[in-house]
Amino acid sequence: MTSQEKRDLNLVSMLWAGPELAPEIAGLHAGLFAEPWDAASVGKLLEHPGATTLIAKAGFPKTSVGFVMGQIAADDAELLSMGVAKEWQGNGLAKKLMEGLERALKRSGVKRLFLEVAEDNPSALSVYKARGLAEITRRKAYYARTGGPAVDAIVMSKNL
Ligand SMILES: CC(C)(COP(=O)(O)OP(=O)(O)OC[C@H]1O[C@@H](n2cnc3c(N)ncnc32)[C@H](O)[C@@H]1OP(=O)(O)O)[C@@H](O)C(=O)NCCC(=O)NCCS
Repeated sequence: MTSQEKRDLNLVSMLWAGPELAPEIAGLHAGLFAEPWDAASVGKLLEHPGATTLIAKAGFPKTSVGFVMGQIAADDAELLSMGVAKEWQGNGLAKKLMEGLERALKRSGVKRLFLEVAEDNPSALSVYKARGLAEITRRKAYYARTGGPAVDAIVMSKNL
């Protein structure tokens, strides 16, 4: 199937991810990011007491198609990473994952969500804006880019 085909979000289950799912998240991460996190690093993040991570599964047998990793620190939480498998992109799965994460954070008493995103990542920016996050500051030339100038990190936040 191509990424152009519409996918039915009703076929997706969202589960809480603990350290045992670190290899699956690392596998997804490796297919999506230029600097992949290995399973050991993902596992460490998932062992953190404030870790709040959702994994999306679909198909028969079920395979992992997306994840969102948050971390709570007192009243605040940070979105550490999010990814949707290429063949599932453009179907609203990221927004659904964010909605689930925000609901869980709110239930845990979190007041504000923060994240950082590269200014040259329009699809992520579109998801975050759609979920009501707004730019609060920038880290100038924060992300290096091969063959081009470094790009800003946009710091965004939202009251939950
Ligand atoms: C960012 C990412 C998680 C989005 O996942 P997704 O499931 O495709 O997101 P959704 O379908 O919920 O929404 C995508 C939105 O981006 C928009 N979009 C996609 N490409 C775009 C582009 N080039 N310019 C502007 N908007 C774009 C879509 O139109 C859609 O918005 P809409 O629903 O208002 O039309 C996914 O692209 C991904 O995994 N990227 C690689 C990893 C990454 O960059 N993660 C985020 C940084 S931590």
